[in-house]
Amino acid sequence: MRLYDKVAIITGAGQGIGRAYALRFAHEGARIAVADLNDANAATVAKEIQGAGGRAMAVHVDVADEASTQEMAKTVVQAWDRIDILVNNAGIFFDLEQQNNTLGYLKKVLDVNMIGPWLCARAVFPTMRAQGKGKIINQSSGAAWMYAMAGYAMNKDSTELPSYHYSLSKAGVNAYTHFMAAALGQFGINVNAIAPGVTMTDATRKHVPDAMMGAIKMMSALRRTLEPEDITGTAVFLASDDSDAVTGQVIPVDAGVAMLG
Ligand code: NAI
Repeated sequence: MRLYDKVAIITGAGQGIGRAYALRFAHEGARIAVADLNDANAATVAKEIQGAGGRAMAVHVDVADEASTQEMAKTVVQAWDRIDILVNNAGIFFDLEQQNNTLGYLKKVLDVNMIGPWLCARAVFPTMRAQGKGKIINQSSGAAWMYAMAGYAMNKDSTELPSYHYSLSKAGVNAYTHFMAAALGQFGINVNAIAPGVTMTDATRKHVPDAMMGAIKMMSALRRTLEPEDITGTAVFLASDDSDAVTGQVIPVDAGVAMLG
């Protein structure tokens, strides 16, 4: 067990990739705070973990609400006395309004997807600092680098500049990963990000038409899309002591679409 007895908060763990992270981390021995806006889904995942012999509790959080993120951290420390791992996975994806380019909606997506991880990191920081160790894993996306594809959002007849809300929020997550890693390394806290490629969750099935899947597969070296379980091993590595010397990195887990370095 690579995460035995570690305490992990996983935001957005009520469904999709977050759920897969929660199940895998529990399998590796961690105690899991299944943190989500959707209480029913969080409770279901926590029960699933408990049913398999793992340790978990559902915690309500709105990652865009500072008081809520503070309450989440407090609840976990009260229950388990420490916080070893924070996975900032929650994001507006399933409910994403791709064509909504209003200023209000841009701010909403940035609030949840980009500022949310910062608020959650701020909430766990005092505990991790006191421990002298902690792991923060941010959920980015290949969308942060897909400038040309995002460009298709604007056709030549458009009169309105798109906001690029989702891609921009994930580019911000990457920037935060670098800044947070630089600031928190002195306290023994590692901050890294995972940038998944197209992963077959309900959210992806809703947004990506079947007809595009062939083209998406052809763009990847491995000629395939991903399942949520394809990403969990990288998260376990970043959460475990094996990655103690790795920080400030954004790791694409995308079957070989983005090739950095
Ligand atoms: P999803 O939309 O199915 O799940 C997101 C989860 O976050 C849900 O459980 C939702 O209730 C929760 N959530 C939303 N707003 C919240 C808030 N304000 N506070 C707390 N929880 C909130 O998405 P999926 O597909 O599981 O993706 C998970 C993460 O991975 C997201 O950050 C997404 O942007 C990212 N991602 C997904 C990819 C994919 O292909 N599925 C590819 C790259 C990145």
